[in-house]
Amino acid sequence: MTDPLLDIRSAAPNVDLSLFDDVPHDLPAARQDAYSKAIEAIDVANPKLFYHNVIAPYFERLRREDPVHYYDSKVYGPYWSITRYNDIMAIDTNHKQFSSEGGITIFGDGREMLPMFIAMDPPKHDVQRKTVTPMVSPANLKNLEPLIRQRAAKILDEVPIGAEFDWVDKVSMELTAMTLATLFDFPQEERRKLTRWSDVATAVPGGGVIDSREQWLQEMTECFTTFQRMWVERLQSAGGNDLVSMLAHGPETRNMPPQELLGNILLLIVGGNDTTRNTITGSVLALNRNPDQYEKLRARPELIPSMVSETIRWQTPLAHMRRTALEAVEFHDRRIRKGEKVVMWYISGNRDEEVITDPESYIIDRARPRQHISFGYGIHRCVGNRLAELQLQVIWEEIMKRFPQIEVTAEPERVYSTFVRGYRALPVRIPRRH
Ligand code: HEM
Repeated sequence: MTDPLLDIRSAAPNVDLSLFDDVPHDLPAARQDAYSKAIEAIDVANPKLFYHNVIAPYFERLRREDPVHYYDSKVYGPYWSITRYNDIMAIDTNHKQFSSEGGITIFGDGREMLPMFIAMDPPKHDVQRKTVTPMVSPANLKNLEPLIRQRAAKILDEVPIGAEFDWVDKVSMELTAMTLATLFDFPQEERRKLTRWSDVATAVPGGGVIDSREQWLQEMTECFTTFQRMWVERLQSAGGNDLVSMLAHGPETRNMPPQELLGNILLLIVGGNDTTRNTITGSVLALNRNPDQYEKLRARPELIPSMVSETIRWQTPLAHMRRTALEAVEFHDRRIRKGEKVVMWYISGNRDEEVITDPESYIIDRARPRQHISFGYGIHRCVGNRLAELQLQVIWEEIMKRFPQIEVTAEPERVYSTFVRGYRALPVRIPRRH
């Protein structure tokens, strides 16, 4: 079998945070900065803007004044920012001109990327996606629901009452790691390895998760070695109802080169983990920042599904997806050249005042709560979207049965990333049970 270390070396992240400009640390200063600088100088792909949560005014200005915005970054090279909801839809559904093949984040130029179906175009994308889709079929989700509920109940029954604790670690990570371990048929007692690998996979050296590219390589190698071993074991067994067995036995995927297997495993680990985890955390934060909405939820728990969708919009757990232009394209009055990176900023589309009423407000009973663009659109639309919603709904149903209030006791610690919009920690206190 190929040495995975050799195979993944070029996929290690190579972003130096010191190359990015410093940014204002609060919103009023960010607004001043966003509107006073020359529009050509706006670089929304600065991870510091996300870390300090001051990105909103920059996107607001781009949506209004330069919705197809060009910036030549010394870190990522030149890239276009698409910031309006309808323009994002137009690009996301146009895979003939805007390819996923060169990579789906702003980083790199495609050669660094492990092959995975999110970063493929048809027909290969379609057959690989089809192989794993049964895992998240309505019937399978129905089977999973009691297990998720039982685990959510146990996690919540064990949190301390009246004392501060980290919601990310004790609740969000636990539930999503347990679900993911089930999807892979991975040993539950080692589930936190999945969380760690998910964090490391998208981490930037020096951003708080890993210190160096070497550390990235070492930890990802452990991940890949583990899954290669599981793949071989599952190949030799009769086939099971887990994602590794599905890939190992699927007619279209069983002869995958090892790198492609590893890429797809990583896709499922990151896709199924960070995003849902950060929305669970985001829901507690959003309800605390909007006590009137929390009150509404207590009065009408039947609003949980729509609160979940509103949180997925508000949070936008993946800030962007990127495409590469396959040919020169006139888009509005701008000319995108062949080979250029086109970044669809979902986080901005979800705040587009032309499409979403009062987008800056968190409103749990919106008329069309699933109108958000957080799951993308078109052929790559999130395959796990119903599973994500299910986990969120179940945890909130179980929370409402137990606790009248979860109080956020300090500011969250955020992630250094222009891609994953998430939290490292959220201190909370639960005053009492019902
Ligand atoms: C709130 C939670 C989630 C969010 C916000 C989210 C977001 C996204 C987005 C934006 C895309 C790309 C869409 C596009 O390019 O048009 C995507 C694709 C994907 N997601 Fe999710 N996701 C979530 C949860 C999950 C879960 C739980 C799973 C695992 C089962 C998952 C697995 C995937 C996969 C495999 C793809 C690739 C689909 C393809 O290329 O055809 N996601 N997701």
